[in-house]
Amino acid sequence: MANMITFSKTCNILNQDIQAMRRTVVNKYPILVKLNCQDYIENGLNVDDSLQVAHRLANAGVDAIESSRTGINSLEKEDYYRNEARAFKREIRITLILVGGIRSYELAEKLVENEEVDYISMCRPFIMEPGLINQWASGDHSKALCKPDNACLKSGRKGTGVRCLVKSV
Ligand SMILES: Cc1cc2nc3c(=O)[nH]c(=O)nc-3n(C[C@H](O)[C@H](O)[C@H](O)COP(=O)(O)O)c2cc1C
Repeated sequence: MANMITFSKTCNILNQDIQAMRRTVVNKYPILVKLNCQDYIENGLNVDDSLQVAHRLANAGVDAIESSRTGINSLEKEDYYRNEARAFKREIRITLILVGGIRSYELAEKLVENEEVDYISMCRPFIMEPGLINQWASGDHSKALCKPDNACLKSGRKGTGVRCLVKSV
């Protein structure tokens, strides 16, 4: 851990924020936290750090953690941080949601059925195919067409709106 004081302070702030949120929403809404499981940079967050944060979040009364990872360009392997997710599932006793790279119905189903995660979530595929879940629910389990070019992100950052550039050409 590069800087224990900063880490500890950050966790305390997080804890205060969660308490304030809980006071506001009481039990009417679940509180979900998206947590990067690893930074892959020098002195950045590693899996052990994020597990510590996750424990603190669970103790603070968070309902679920959505585990993510940087490096969202690399989709050669669809479940590119399944191992980190397994560590979370093993260690943390609250609902675990996995986001990042999932494009196949079959993989999503397997991850949940095998109890590697409780839920999966997806982001970029819905920019290209907003009807994807209805399509899967209707029995057409074709893989999401989204490619990891991140053009949707770039277009959002440029101020030209979040949209799929592949679809619009
Ligand atoms: C346009 C866009 C905006 C995003 N904004 C955020 C954000 O504000 N905070 C965040 O944690 N992740 C953000 N993400 C990342 C997604 O929540 C998700 O973790 C990432 O796209 C990987 O999931 P996917 O492979 O299903 O797209 C954004 C992604 C996109 C495409």
